[in-house]
Amino acid sequence: MDQATSSLWSRHILPFTLLLGVLCAATLAGDYLLHRLNLVWIGRYLGIPGTLLIIGSLAYSLRKRKVISSGNPKNLLTLHEVGTWLGSLMVLLHAGIHFNAILPWLATVAMGVNVISGLVGRLLLGRAREYVLGQRDHYQLRGLSKEEVERAVFWDAVTLDAMNLWRKVHIPIFIVFAVLSLGHIVSIFLFWEWI
Ligand code: HEM
Repeated sequence: MDQATSSLWSRHILPFTLLLGVLCAATLAGDYLLHRLNLVWIGRYLGIPGTLLIIGSLAYSLRKRKVISSGNPKNLLTLHEVGTWLGSLMVLLHAGIHFNAILPWLATVAMGVNVISGLVGRLLLGRAREYVLGQRDHYQLRGLSKEEVERAVFWDAVTLDAMNLWRKVHIPIFIVFAVLSLGHIVSIFLFWEWI
């Protein structure tokens, strides 16, 4: 494996696969344990800290858009990444394998798309862009015509466009996730007579 390929693997693809894989594995293992130990009620309440953690992680988005002016953006970004990952794990454990209502499941699917789009944007996109630009340069230096270069990088460029779309999806899907979650939370609070 040459150096570029091995750094692509170790710095981008491996962390992406691990972060997503561990999220799935921890959800399955956690849900299994909660059921085995008759602690399913804990999972039910994990929805609350999970939601609060995700809301707290949004400080980064507020800082980025200058809604708030305090806080180091770099630290807030780390908080955003760790907080949304952990918060999602809690919400996934909270969702468990219970299927009664459609609204919270739609919210969970939107949350999943949100997590994946965040990871694609953070770990895969920058490097993929560099790769396609590098390939273009490489073919141009070998003296290929403009059309030949475009033909050679066509599928990589299509993949890159699809990945760019993931990044663009991050905020709209967050809004879908927030609205659906709010619907679910308000209906539960009404049911509990908290509001
Ligand atoms: C303050 C936050 C939350 C509270 C208090 C809460 C409360 C609850 C309660 C009490 C249930 C059980 C309902 C039942 O047994 O029929 C439930 C189920 C569920 N919740 Fe939440 N939840 C919260 C946040 C979330 C979020 C943010 C999501 C997803 C993004 C979510 C997804 C789900 C799912 C998928 C279920 C299972 C629904 C089913 O049984 O079909 N919850 N929630």
